[in-house]
Order: sequence, then C-alpha cells, then structure tokens
Amino acid sequence: MLEGLRIGVLGVGKLGGAIVRGLTRAPDAAGGQPVIPADRIRGSVGHAETAERATASLGIAVGTDGAAVAEASDILILAVKPQKMGALLESIRSAVTPGKLVITVAASVPTSFIEERLADGVAVVRGMPNTPCLLGDGMTVLCAGTHASEDDLARARTIFDAVGRTAVLDERLLDGVTGLSGSGPAYIYLVIESLAEAGVKVGIPREVSTLLSAQTVLGAARMVLELREHPALLKDMVTTPAGCTIDGLLELEEGGLRVSLIKAVVKATDRAHELIQESS
Ligand SMILES: NC(=O)c1ccc[n+]([C@@H]2O[C@H](COP(=O)([O-])OP(=O)(O)OC[C@H]3O[C@@H](n4cnc5c(N)ncnc54)[C@H](OP(=O)(O)O)[C@@H]3O)[C@@H](O)[C@H]2O)c1
Repeated sequence: MLEGLRIGVLGVGKLGGAIVRGLTRAPDAAGGQPVIPADRIRGSVGHAETAERATASLGIAVGTDGAAVAEASDILILAVKPQKMGALLESIRSAVTPGKLVITVAASVPTSFIEERLADGVAVVRGMPNTPCLLGDGMTVLCAGTHASEDDLARARTIFDAVGRTAVLDERLLDGVTGLSGSGPAYIYLVIESLAEAGVKVGIPREVSTLLSAQTVLGAARMVLELREHPALLKDMVTTPAGCTIDGLLELEEGGLRVSLIKAVVKATDRAHELIQESS
C-alpha cells in the first residue's frame, strides 16, 4: 500500500524522529527490509543545526525548507509542536496540493484547523502515536478529517501499523487518547523507576532491579493484550490469600495509585484541550 510513496516528516523531533526510526529500522535481528527505505523519507526541522544533527542521527535527508519537503512527498506527517502548527501550515500551503495525504500527530490540533489552512479538498488524517513507535511497539489512534477517504485512513493506518498497534476512534476522543497513550509512556517510566528504586531499597543491585521492574511491566502488559483477560482477573492470579501480594496491593490502594493514575490522564486530557488556544 505504501509501495513507491515518498514520505515527508515535518518536525523530526522526539516523536517525528521516533516515527522515522521505526519506519526505517530493520524489522528483525536477522535484518530484512524496512517498512520504508530511508531514501524515500525526507524530514524538516526549524533550525539548521538541528537539521544537521537529525540527518546524522536518523540517516535521512533533513533540511529546514518544509515547503520543498512537502512538494517532494506524497504523504506528509506533521510533527511540530501545536503552537508551531499555524506558521508551518502557512509556509507549506502552496506545496500541499489535493492528492497528497496530510497526517497530523500534534496534540490538541483538530483536523478542521489543518483543513482550513490548506487548499480545499486536501485529505487530512489525525493521529495520536507515542514514542515506543521507535521500537515498533507504539500505540496510535487515528481519525479521518472531512476530505479523507477510507483509503486515506487505510494508508495512514499502514504507516502506524508498521510501528506498533493502531485503532480508529472518533475525533472527539483524541484529547483523551493524548492523555492516556500519548503521555502514557511517561507515567509508566515513573512506575518502572519507582519499582526499581524499591528493589534497591530491599537490597537488589540497581541494574538487576531495573531489569526486574521493566520486564515485569512488559510481561504484565503482554498478559493483558494476549490473554485478553480483564486486568482484575490477572491480578487475582498473582494474589494468594494471606500472601505477600495482597499486602503490597493494600499499600498501593492506601497511597491512592489508582486515583492518581486516573487523575493524571484526566489532567493531561484537559491540558490537551487547551493547547490549541496557544497555536498560531
Ligand atoms: N513526544 C511525544 O511523546 C509525543 C506523543 C504524541 C504526540 N506528540 C506530538 O508531536 C509533536 C512534536 O512533539 P515532540 O515531543 O516531538 O517535540 P520536539 O521534540 O520539540 O520536536 C519538534 C520538532 O519540530 C521542529 N520544528 C519547529 N518548527 C518547525 C517548522 N517550521 N518546520 C519543521 N519543523 C519544525 C523542531 O525543530 P527545531 O528543534 O530545529 O526547532 C523539532 O525538531 C507535538 O505536536 C506533540 O503534541 C508528541
């Protein structure tokens, strides 16, 4: 579906860079073809020094002329900060002709904002990925704008399927997705870091403790995804009556872990609602 298509990534920062790395990496340890060869991806950034660094680290051509990248690409991924989106769209407007597919991954920026600033009829898909795209373990939620066809959505989905899992939801839920899976890796790093600290506290060497902590999060996530059991049932499988786990769980309940996580997602969702007000 992406055969021969040229991809332009406008804004190869943390997320744009992770997407490029995910698309261009060899799919397995034995090598194999990347999803998109590096010579079919071009990038742009805001400053010349960043462009130089990104070219060296990502192995694709990165410049500062977004319009030139837009001109030379069939599919554009817009990955600048929401606050920079208005100015970026103004600079690429004449290069983005109908027939090109524009995928925006900026938090908070609705498809209507993009559509209003580009030529009439340009297909826009909005996505909310996360940084584990870098390793092919991303989670991306997509929604189609007014002019995007099923085919456009499918093409966008093919890109993000290649760097993780995807789902399609109504656009009104995208700020909530931002608060959950977009920001989510940061919450989980905090959990991993805290569990690792706990291991150190009970005498486990730090390196081993971090391994135990991260692999436990990974294993638990795979149990949920692959066994398709409710997390509460899986929790019960670990919790022997009068055993150790129940004591640990009670501490977490007392510390308000559950409520804290729910409040974190709600706060981040609220912030995602606000960001668009700061866009140019
Ligand atoms: N980070 C995440 O985990 C994550 C997750 C989901 C969604 N997002 C969304 O992804 C977007 C980027 O976030 P980020 O964390 O990757 O930010 P970032 O690391 O600051 O990257 C932003 C990039 O945009 C470049 N840029 C600035 N002005 C530009 C322009 N006019 N044309 C082309 N590139 C330009 C910057 O280049 P210079 O440094 O040279 O200015 C930088 O490389 C945001 O909208 C965010 O909401 C991020």
